[in-house]
Amino acid sequence: PAERTLVLVKPDALRRGLLGEILGRFERKGLVIEALELRTMDAELADQHYAEHVDKAFYPPLKEFMTSGPLAAVVLSGDEVISVVRTLVGATDGRKAAAGTIRGDLSLSNRENLIHASDSVDSAKRELALWFPKL
Ligand code: CMP
Repeated sequence: PAERTLVLVKPDALRRGLLGEILGRFERKGLVIEALELRTMDAELADQHYAEHVDKAFYPPLKEFMTSGPLAAVVLSGDEVISVVRTLVGATDGRKAAAGTIRGDLSLSNRENLIHASDSVDSAKRELALWFPKL
């Protein structure tokens, strides 16, 4: 079966009306949307999802932002989808992300950077189990 990854289209993207634009980029690339749900992260889910970041200085404002409104949790599949999605999304800081990437074209922030995408096979496995336990 094709590889799968977890994408979160973050609250800033939904507030800005960019969900369709962002999903469209994944669709036009040829990736398949296997699951899609509007969710609002609570504090507990934020701490689990960002377990590796909870002790970092940027975490409190990140948590505040990620729990500030609905996000879209998306499962995508396709050939080498984990790295393909990371390439489409671009570098973490929207100010430094390459033009042509989602963040490079649409974000000017290091925190409100529109998207989260699993960064490895192991994190995809962990994050898919956390967000879509029945899948
Ligand atoms: P994400 O891919 O969701 O993983 C961790 C998130 O923390 C990242 O995207 C950004 O939203 C945020 N982040 C990472 N580094 C910083 C930073 N230096 N300052 C503020 N936010 C950050």
